[in-house]
Amino acid sequence: MDINTQLIHGYPVFDGQTGASSIPLYQASTFQQGGIDQPQDFTYSRFGNPTRQALEEAIAAIEGGRCGFAFASGMAAISSVLLLFEAGDHLVMCKSIYGGTFTLAETVLKRFGIRVTYVDEADPAAWEQAICPDTKALYLETPSNPLLKITDIRKAATLAKERGLISIIDNTFMTPQFQSPLSLGVDIVIHSATKFLNGHSDVVAGLVVTNDLELAEGIRQQQTVLGSILGVEDCWLVLRGMKTMGLRMAQSAATAQQIAAFLAAAPQVRTVHYPGLSGHPGAAVHASQATSGGAVLSFELADREAVLSFAAAVKLPITAVSLGGVESILSYPATMSHACVPPEERTKQGITDGLLRLSVGIEDACDLLADLQQALAQLTPAASKTVPAATPS
Ligand SMILES: Cc1ncc(COP(=O)(O)O)c(C=O)c1O
Repeated sequence: MDINTQLIHGYPVFDGQTGASSIPLYQASTFQQGGIDQPQDFTYSRFGNPTRQALEEAIAAIEGGRCGFAFASGMAAISSVLLLFEAGDHLVMCKSIYGGTFTLAETVLKRFGIRVTYVDEADPAAWEQAICPDTKALYLETPSNPLLKITDIRKAATLAKERGLISIIDNTFMTPQFQSPLSLGVDIVIHSATKFLNGHSDVVAGLVVTNDLELAEGIRQQQTVLGSILGVEDCWLVLRGMKTMGLRMAQSAATAQQIAAFLAAAPQVRTVHYPGLSGHPGAAVHASQATSGGAVLSFELADREAVLSFAAAVKLPITAVSLGGVESILSYPATMSHACVPPEERTKQGITDGLLRLSVGIEDACDLLADLQQALAQLTPAASKTVPAATPS
């Protein structure tokens, strides 16, 4: 089954009780029990709810996994997974990582005695060298937010297996449509479903998928005891949003490729980060593990002043935190997604004051290109320009 068919038919799509073609909202905290001592599927919605179960079955099927879990946010999903580890454990994470994950590692995980070493994601040797006797997991985010750095998923997953470690990936940017980490050997896949999976900027949600039944048991326990479940209405919205993900992603990614090439040629732009450009340092690895450059890119203007002028001049993309909506979204990582990362750490990661991130929506490409062109025309050319080649990879 190809993706669009799978998104419509590839999981239990009818309500088992009524045959309703849209899974109903089972807006109930508790369920009448057949008998005081008789087990049944649903007893209390923190433990399980039919609407949530429908979404969990859907994401498991679409990621090609056995067990799915729906959380109150991407961060609830990430923290529930990472709190599987305990005091004394050590994790290796990529250096270029979502700001919330970095803050989680540097605050909560640290407080619980879980140490993290950050490595240059593009260097397989760095992952290996960072492993110590206490290491329990490798945590990947590829392409990373906001610099679109690429980690070789197969190599990291193989390394994890050889050393008896768990491999975890944040697959938010690619979605299961463009990248299937479980098939590349990864143990746990995490999504901020707030983004492309839901796709309409109206829900905050997180999803986790694994094939490993033991890990699944641990994740289910975390979900139940931490209580970080996704509410039924949001489960329903994500289920509905996911049905059109294939169409949305195809349109957005095709436009993103065009925009990346356009920005790479623009004299006002210093550099473009998009793994679909052949000049991107991770382009070959990315092409070996994903089927598209995706719908997010970032690019650097000369400085903060240029960013402010550009952001004031663009008319179509909304200026906002987040990504993955039907509307294009322009973000400024320094004060938005990565504001919680200390300035010196941001600089170390390469998140400069000139960096903007663009999540490309489903608007017509010609309109987005014209809008970006008129906004750039108001800036003077960047002093030094180091753009990747503009040919698609
Ligand atoms: C790559 C990535 N992972 C995780 C998250 C956190 O997700 P949420 O905002 O749904 O908690 C985000 C949010 O922007 C993200 O971009």
